[in-house]
Amino acid sequence: MRVSGLLRLLSLISVLVVSWFFVRSYISSNMINVRLPRWIGSVHKESPIVVKTKCGLSKSCSANFFAFKISSGAANVVGPSMCFEGQTIMSPVKNNVGRGLNIALVNGTKGTVLRHGSFDMYSGDPNLLVKFLKEIPDGTLVLVASYDDPGTKMNDEIRKLLSNLGSSYAKQLGFRDSWVFLGAKGLKSKSPFEEFLKNSPDTNKYDGWPELLELEGCVPQKVY
Ligand SMILES: *[C@@H]1O[C@H](CO)[C@@H](O)[C@H](O)[C@H]1NC(C)=O
Repeated sequence: MRVSGLLRLLSLISVLVVSWFFVRSYISSNMINVRLPRWIGSVHKESPIVVKTKCGLSKSCSANFFAFKISSGAANVVGPSMCFEGQTIMSPVKNNVGRGLNIALVNGTKGTVLRHGSFDMYSGDPNLLVKFLKEIPDGTLVLVASYDDPGTKMNDEIRKLLSNLGSSYAKQLGFRDSWVFLGAKGLKSKSPFEEFLKNSPDTNKYDGWPELLELEGCVPQKVY
């Protein structure tokens, strides 16, 4: 009696174990068919060595060129950012940007940051910007990003100083326009590094502001 009871118990256990394996392999084979391959596949697609470029540029720059990336602010919500040779000079995370015009100065030969500033063009004193622009030494690269409103306090003197750095759009910069620019003091021609979007109710991406702009590229050491 005891032996047959033990046998019955053993057969019950083996039935349970076999069904468990059956159910488990059924589930896992379904998972393998449905989920794992896609997951593994995507890992395989992304794993080929990712070349990390300075400032996250799509292509790295040749020798004797500096990598840069400038983003304007998004409406009056997200501040602008500027990266030069892999170094973030100004950004919301660094907490050194402000509404208006954000400007960073870089030595055009060495690529070192000289100074940076943020100028409130809605309610600030435009003479602070005039002074800042007039003191830029020759051969300096000038990176500019707008945020919210770069235009209200804009005046002819500032437009002229910015145009002299190689800007084509400083002449028409106005209320809540988006603008990103890289120029240089002593540049004899117009800079190829500039993007501009006019604030216009018909084309604005945000309610009251045009889309943010991103500008990236490789600037030769000494552009002048
Ligand atoms: C920029 O760097 C060069 C080379 O080191 C130096 O001669 C020049 O004085 C620097 N310019 C400024 C404005 O710092």
